[in-house]
Amino acid sequence: MEFRDVSKRYAGQLAVDQLSFKVPAGRICVLVGPSGSGKTTSLKMVNRLIEPTGGSILIDGRDVLREEPTALRRRIGYVIQQVGLFPHQTIAENVGTVPRLLGWPKERIAARTEQLLALVGLEPSRFALRYPAQLSGGERQRVGVARALAAEPPVMLMDEPFGAVDPIVRDRLQNEFLRIQRDQGTTVLFVTHDIDEAIKLGDRVAVMRGGKLVQYAPPAELLAHPVNAFVAEFVGSDRGLKRLVLLTVGGVDLDTTVARAAVSPNAPILSPASTLRDALVRMLASEAQVGIVVDRDRYLGVLTLSTIGRMIRDDT
Ligand SMILES: Nc1ncnc2c1ncn2[C@@H]1O[C@H](COP(=O)(O)OP(=O)(O)OP(=O)(O)O)[C@@H](O)[C@H]1O
Ligand SMILES: [Mg+2]
Repeated sequence: MEFRDVSKRYAGQLAVDQLSFKVPAGRICVLVGPSGSGKTTSLKMVNRLIEPTGGSILIDGRDVLREEPTALRRRIGYVIQQVGLFPHQTIAENVGTVPRLLGWPKERIAARTEQLLALVGLEPSRFALRYPAQLSGGERQRVGVARALAAEPPVMLMDEPFGAVDPIVRDRLQNEFLRIQRDQGTTVLFVTHDIDEAIKLGDRVAVMRGGKLVQYAPPAELLAHPVNAFVAEFVGSDRGLKRLVLLTVGGVDLDTTVARAAVSPNAPILSPASTLRDALVRMLASEAQVGIVVDRDRYLGVLTLSTIGRMIRDDT
């Protein structure tokens, strides 16, 4: 997916100002930025709910402005900021909307609907026949995500899809979403206010301000090298700490000179695959200054707080 000099003007005011960036196929690009910075407008121009006043948007090299909007929208999954379920249809009917439009057989729609409801944590036997008004805000959001995923669209547009769910459910939905996205190789444009969500989900993060693209970079680069004070403030003064989510225990230097038997029995056992953030949390909780790194049964060495400290401060 590619934005080329895309602009949107409302009564002389630019809501989106010459936006250009590429989302590689099968990757997730997260748009972040303050309220009113043009995120939703940018998303809606991809499936032509809003028509750009300048520039072009390409999907697989084809200009969306040359496509028939209804055909275009069937190929693009869309989760809107305020969910937008059909109030007079059941949850199951809502989830089956696009498969129905595509003419799938009834049994296939039913099976897919059930699978997706379970996936987003809504027990099908409890939820399938209810109406949207009988669900909480967070449950409705999950139905919105299930509906967008139903026909395995190659492209998904998601506008703050996990905004109304609690942190624990959000974490689970994010992980499920990442799994499905990798499985299906979906190309995703994702909007959020939450910089932590952007860092976790994004292969690339686009920071917007006043309709303009301020920085477009992989999360690690955004955290290490914010291009200006605005981005630095947006990613937070704890950006070093945030970066720990992107680094694994196996990816940093371990102290291999210490025998395992010499390490405090309080020290947590860490796997090379766990993130440095999880390692830090467990090391602090155990009051040990170190963690014991073990890959299956093999002792690899010791991770120290000072190594983590170096990674927090390291700006390269
Ligand atoms: N129909 C419209 N007419 C005039 N101005 C509009 C219209 N829709 C949006 N805007 C303006 O365009 C700008 C960008 O809006 P947009 O909805 O894209 O912001 P956003 O980044 O998604 O914000 P939020 O984080 O609050 O959802 C805002 O200043 C908004 O007021
Ligand atoms: Mg918005």
